[in-house]
Amino acid sequence: MKANTEKFGVTPNQPSLWTRADALKVRADDPTTTQPLVSADFPVLNNDVFIWDTMPLRDLDGNVTSVDGWSVIFTLTADRHPNDPQYLDEDGNYDILRDWNDRHGRAKMYYWFSRTGKNWEFGGRVMAEGVSPTAREWAGTPILLNDRGEVDLYYTAVTPGATIVKVRGRVVTTEHGVSMVGFEKVKPLFEADGKMYQTEAQNAFWGFRDPWPFRDPNDGKLYMLFEGNVAGERGSHKVGEAEIGDVPPGYEDVGNSRYQTACVGIAVARDADGDDWEMLPPLLTAVGVNDQTERPHFVFQDGKYYLFTISHTFTYGDGVTGPDGVYGFVADSLFGPYVPLNGSGLVLGNPSSQPFQTYSHYVMPNGLVTSFIDSVPTDETGTQNRVGGTEAPTVGMKIKGQQTFVVAEYDYGYIPPMLDVTLK
Ligand code: FRU
Repeated sequence: MKANTEKFGVTPNQPSLWTRADALKVRADDPTTTQPLVSADFPVLNNDVFIWDTMPLRDLDGNVTSVDGWSVIFTLTADRHPNDPQYLDEDGNYDILRDWNDRHGRAKMYYWFSRTGKNWEFGGRVMAEGVSPTAREWAGTPILLNDRGEVDLYYTAVTPGATIVKVRGRVVTTEHGVSMVGFEKVKPLFEADGKMYQTEAQNAFWGFRDPWPFRDPNDGKLYMLFEGNVAGERGSHKVGEAEIGDVPPGYEDVGNSRYQTACVGIAVARDADGDDWEMLPPLLTAVGVNDQTERPHFVFQDGKYYLFTISHTFTYGDGVTGPDGVYGFVADSLFGPYVPLNGSGLVLGNPSSQPFQTYSHYVMPNGLVTSFIDSVPTDETGTQNRVGGTEAPTVGMKIKGQQTFVVAEYDYGYIPPMLDVTLK
C-alpha cells in the first residue's frame, strides 16, 4: 500500500474519524443548520418521471459550468407508473409511495437544460438502453472536459455488483436546446477491494458508489471521492476508544453500532485522463456512528478542504442520531485531519416536523445547496404525505472557518452557473 501510493507522490493517510462524541453534538432544528420548511404545494418538474440525486455539470475544479449559456444538470430518474396495475392499491388508486420507494431499482441517468438555472427542460436519457452494463445507473458526476464540449460522466453501475465506471460523450448546443451525443462505451474503473473498502461478499448491505472526481487545488493531481464502507466482515468491526471519542460518563455503551461502518473513500488517477485509478485508504470513517456517507464532495474555499456528504437518520448507530441531510468536515490539507463542521458535522438537516422533506444535498462552491423533495406532510399528524420526486428549493449557506450558516432560500431547483464555456 505504502509503496504504491508513494509512487504517485501521495502521502498515505490516516483516516479521520467522525466519532460518537462528535455525533452526540448533533442538534436537529438548530435554525442555522436546518433547511427551511418545504411547503406541500411544491411544483413538480415533470409528471412522467421521478427525479432525485441532481448532478450539475461542472469542471474538474468543482465550478458549476454552463455551455453557450445553457445550464445542464444530470439526475437519477425513474418513470412514474400511475396506471400500472402493480402500483394500484385495493381501491384502484395509484400507490405513489410504493412506486417512489421502488425507484432505485430502475434508476437511469437523464439530463435537463435551462437558460435561467431553473425551470429545467427535459433532455432525455444520457445513455441509450443497453449501453450501461447493469440494471441501475446510480449517482456520479458529469465533468465538462474542454471547450469542444467533451464530457466524462462518472457514475456507478449497480446490480449485479457496484462498479465505478465512466462514459465519454459530448454536449451539443443549439439556440433551442442541448443534446448529449456519444456516451456509448462504458469503461469500468474499479470496485471495492475487501481490504480497505467492504465488498458485497463481506456485507450484503455494503455501499460502494457515487464517484466525485476533482483536481486537487494544491498538488494539481486528479483524485476521486466515493462512498464506501470500511472493509471487513459485517459485525467484525470494533467500536473502540478512538471511535467513541470523549464522551460523558454514561455514554460508553455502543450497543450494536459495530454494524455502522460508513467511510468516504478516495482514489488517485495514475494517468491524466482518469482511465486508471488507485484506491487509497478512506479520508474519513464513521465506524460506530453511521452506515452511509453518500455522495461525498468538496468545496475548496479559503485554502481549506470542505468535505460534504449526505446521510440519514435510519443509518445512525445505536445511541446516536441526527436528521437526514448533509454533513461536513474541514481540513487544511487533502488528507486531513478533518474536523466536523459546527462541532457535530451537521450542516443542513431536515426539520424534525418534516423529517423526509428533502435529501441528497449537494453543496456548490458558491454556497448554494441543491436537493430533491422526498415527501412532505400534508396534515398536522404527518400521517399523510405528498411524494416529491422533484427539485427542492435551493438553500444559500455561508461557510466560515469551522462553521456554516443558512442565510437564504431560493427558487425550486435553482442551480446557477458559476462560469460559462463557449463551445468551439
Ligand atoms: C442518494 C443515493 C446515492 C445512490 C442513489 C441510488 O440519494 O442513495 O447514494 O447513488 O441514491 O438511487
